[in-house]
Amino acid sequence: MVKVAVLGHGVVGSGVTELISKNKKSIENRAGQEIEVKYILDLRDFPDSPYQEKFTKDFDQILHDPEVSVVAEVMGGLSPAFDYVMALLKQGKSVVTSNKELVAAKGAELLAAAKAHNVNFFFEASVGGGIPIIRPMHQCLAANEISEVAGILNGTTNFILTKMIEEQMPFDDALHLAQELGYAERDPAADVEGQDACRKICILASLAFGQHIYPHTVHTEGIAKLTLDDVAYADSWGGVIKLIGRAKRLPGGRVTASVYPAFLNRHSQLAGINDVFNGILIRGDATGDVVFYGRGAGKFPTASAVVADIIDIIKSNCTCKSLSWKDSDGGNVEDYQAEVLRFYLKLSGISRAQAEEVLGQAEYLARAGQPDGELALVTDKMSEYALMEKLGRLGVQPLSMIRVLDY
Ligand code: HSE
Repeated sequence: MVKVAVLGHGVVGSGVTELISKNKKSIENRAGQEIEVKYILDLRDFPDSPYQEKFTKDFDQILHDPEVSVVAEVMGGLSPAFDYVMALLKQGKSVVTSNKELVAAKGAELLAAAKAHNVNFFFEASVGGGIPIIRPMHQCLAANEISEVAGILNGTTNFILTKMIEEQMPFDDALHLAQELGYAERDPAADVEGQDACRKICILASLAFGQHIYPHTVHTEGIAKLTLDDVAYADSWGGVIKLIGRAKRLPGGRVTASVYPAFLNRHSQLAGINDVFNGILIRGDATGDVVFYGRGAGKFPTASAVVADIIDIIKSNCTCKSLSWKDSDGGNVEDYQAEVLRFYLKLSGISRAQAEEVLGQAEYLARAGQPDGELALVTDKMSEYALMEKLGRLGVQPLSMIRVLDY
């Protein structure tokens, strides 16, 4: 019998406890042992919960209970999650987490602590909700040199963009709906402003490239400034706008890593990923592109990944020492503005002839209701520095500027 504690009884935490109870038989068959959730840690009271006798508000009770060997941290946030997880690992307990903020900020340190104390620190649920991605990258793609990782990593913003594109639903209504459905973070700014996707690309890039990529080094833009005009121009160009997290290995070991909305061709493998679904593309030298697709948020999809980590720990009965990456000083990420890309621009106050003279070859776009004097175009490939210099010469600030990606 393995005794488990669950730290947090929110959307994901309650899903973990319910899933262990709902699929008890098959989960225990796969783990090879009986599993009991002995404790649920939460500061709130849940008088109607069927798990009444399991609740505690005292973390030390869990930390010092020798019967508890595996703990699921599903509280979110850095504090007190980091102190709790570190203390548990040092106490010889394995930890699984869905907490991307924790893994993105402290992954290298926690993995090193797990190794030092001969226990596991697993985080399958931290990226892509129910999509298997951490273990496939670490195990099934282990023979590859991974050169690039890119994806739609945030269900809430993908849900909002889908509603804007397909139903012309105003941004605020779509966000409200995503919150009601339990997709959004406690603070939805983390979704809308791109930080949640940033944390996830940090985790994927750290795993893919073997060195910690810190969130503060990753250029991050959200979707709050996107308008239905931009959506219409993307459509006339033959594509859609998606929030993309991406990281690429450069010669010499440095990487590029960024999160921003991007134009994607309608035929791109990532363009058809809608609603709360996530899609993650891994470019391996042996496999070529591999794309993972599924529900990236929500109670049971995320709980599925947490419980799978618990099962893996129980059945393997050993420590996975290869799941780790080196720490870094944060200086390993290249300047994103140096990357050569095409750009969508919405401009006003200049003529097409003036734009053509300075920007050179470009694809001009049209939309229904386009006012006189509004110019929309997709440039040829250039660095953002070169683009800024040209816009400076034109004397205009773009009303919209969105990068165009080729996936
Ligand atoms: N708020 C996150 C999302 C939850 O919408 O993708 C899953 O990490």
